[in-house]
Amino acid sequence: MSNDKAGNFLSNIHDSAYLAKYREPKLDNSTLINTSGREGESLNGRWNFGADWYDTCKRAEWYKENKTNAAGDPEPLDWDWEAWERMAVPACWNLERKELHYFEGNGVYTRTFRYIPKDKTERIILRFEGAAYNTCVFVNGKFIGSHDGASTPFNVDITKFLKTENRIIVTVDARHHPLRIPMDNSDWFYYGGIYRDVFLYRLPAAYIKDWFIRLAGSCAASAGSCAAKTPNGIDADVYIANESDGSIKISIPELGITKEAAVRDGKASFNIDANPERWSPENPKLYEVILNYSSANGTIDEVKDRIGFREISVKGTDILLNGKKIYLKGICVHEDHFELGKTTNEDVIRQTIRDLKEMNGNYFRLAHYPHDARFARIADEEGVLLWEEVPVYWSVAFDSPIAYADAENQLAELVLRDRNRASVIIWSVGNENADTDSRLVFMSKLVQKARELDPTRLVSAACLIDHEILKIEDRLADTLDVIGVNEYYGWYDPDFSKLPKILSNSSPDKPVLICEFGGDARLGERGTEHDLWTEDKQYALYEQQIATMRKCSYIAGTTPWILYDFRCPRRLNRYQELFNRKGLIDADRKRKKPAFYVMQRYYSEIE
Ligand code: GCU
Repeated sequence: MSNDKAGNFLSNIHDSAYLAKYREPKLDNSTLINTSGREGESLNGRWNFGADWYDTCKRAEWYKENKTNAAGDPEPLDWDWEAWERMAVPACWNLERKELHYFEGNGVYTRTFRYIPKDKTERIILRFEGAAYNTCVFVNGKFIGSHDGASTPFNVDITKFLKTENRIIVTVDARHHPLRIPMDNSDWFYYGGIYRDVFLYRLPAAYIKDWFIRLAGSCAASAGSCAAKTPNGIDADVYIANESDGSIKISIPELGITKEAAVRDGKASFNIDANPERWSPENPKLYEVILNYSSANGTIDEVKDRIGFREISVKGTDILLNGKKIYLKGICVHEDHFELGKTTNEDVIRQTIRDLKEMNGNYFRLAHYPHDARFARIADEEGVLLWEEVPVYWSVAFDSPIAYADAENQLAELVLRDRNRASVIIWSVGNENADTDSRLVFMSKLVQKARELDPTRLVSAACLIDHEILKIEDRLADTLDVIGVNEYYGWYDPDFSKLPKILSNSSPDKPVLICEFGGDARLGERGTEHDLWTEDKQYALYEQQIATMRKCSYIAGTTPWILYDFRCPRRLNRYQELFNRKGLIDADRKRKKPAFYVMQRYYSEIE
């Protein structure tokens, strides 16, 4: 800790620019490793935790653990790792301790771990599946790097910092901030903490960093960057870290495929003659794919993945799955659980999918941010289609390069994490943003980025209706493959007659998804169909919405808002009690409201 000329230790009090030294190195999509199929060593458990309201850990550099001053006298420390409370990882601190329910400061997590090398050339990768919002990682007193974004994974090679006994310190800053994505206002609860799994991976000196395996020539964008060809065979790109040469063998045993290709500049590409069974909701066929890497100096690495091969595309106002028109029978869902908050697990995900199937649905809009990676993996197995989204939500700082870099990085991390998942068919670049010039530039660049990383999927966003001229009107729609539309006729706008007018006034040349409609009902609240907050009103609204949608041929699917009631600090009336009550199922994820059965009936009639 430096001191001023009078010998006072003031730097950690007066240095308002202290965050500058924690901006680099950036843990971002450029360092992201595909860990699908790899066995990690879990660092989950109960870490020591301090609620560091004013970020003093980073201001006063607690992580350096300077316990004495230059003269060797003991310092009056403000931290005390082993005396701190224990906090579960993964968990949202908001639900772990009553006093932390609305805590939006910095949480400081710390634990020790022993490292015994298995191979003197191995690389040790520390990986977080998700922490909200800005995370700084320190190992044995050294700042390792920082990550922005509350819902995407990040990792870092910590090999050179390791000893036998190690201390890791992680600060997680959950504060709202005007340059963040999302910004400082949202209709969901901003949980804080290391709320997804933490792993250590032991990898060889040179290793398989990423792969992208898909039907050859499958191209979603009707006006996109690739000429829409009939898919023929399998394309595979495999990326290596820490080496530029060697060879890759790809095996798909069930198709009798084994191919080898040389690695050039860290990449090997394949175009394989094959005709795999197509993945679909009716037949969620997955193939085991094995990748083996051998480097010139004998490094060997192997990864396995389970891949579904399918093509998603658009033709006029239809969405085609494997060349056949499909209607997306969906519903929106937040990653918000009454007891777990934004933390989830396999049981919760499987129950969510069971609830969709009970509704006769085949599709989820995972709102409004990347959900846990296990959701797409389980959706692959269960034959459920997904819209995945980055939280460019309502107003963000569209004219800020910092905000754009954050948004683009979160999009890239999402696409790189999930582009091998057959269930994911749509990347969404945002939700309900005012149609300004800066927003158009910002989101058009995100659309381009999504297509650059993955030309095989559709790109969309929840666009705007012009409520004056009663038309689907949003300049962003020209850049999209599918137009998402949120509309709340019958709720926020009681004049339901506007919806059929909007649909008949609009003549989109591409598919439209009604990606939000609905209204609040407190479970058990009864009245007439005109009484707000009642199940009767919600039921009547759903019937009107469905009756109107049936008459519009360019609507290719819908995801009503929303499957479950969810925590929402903006909702303060006696029916809401800090919850958004538009769910078709109560926040307990058990008790259904009558409108659930309107969707169940509607979807049962659509093949
Ligand atoms: C908006 C928004 C949702 C919000 C919903 C509502 O369209 O996209 O995040 O929860 O409407 O008002 O309930």
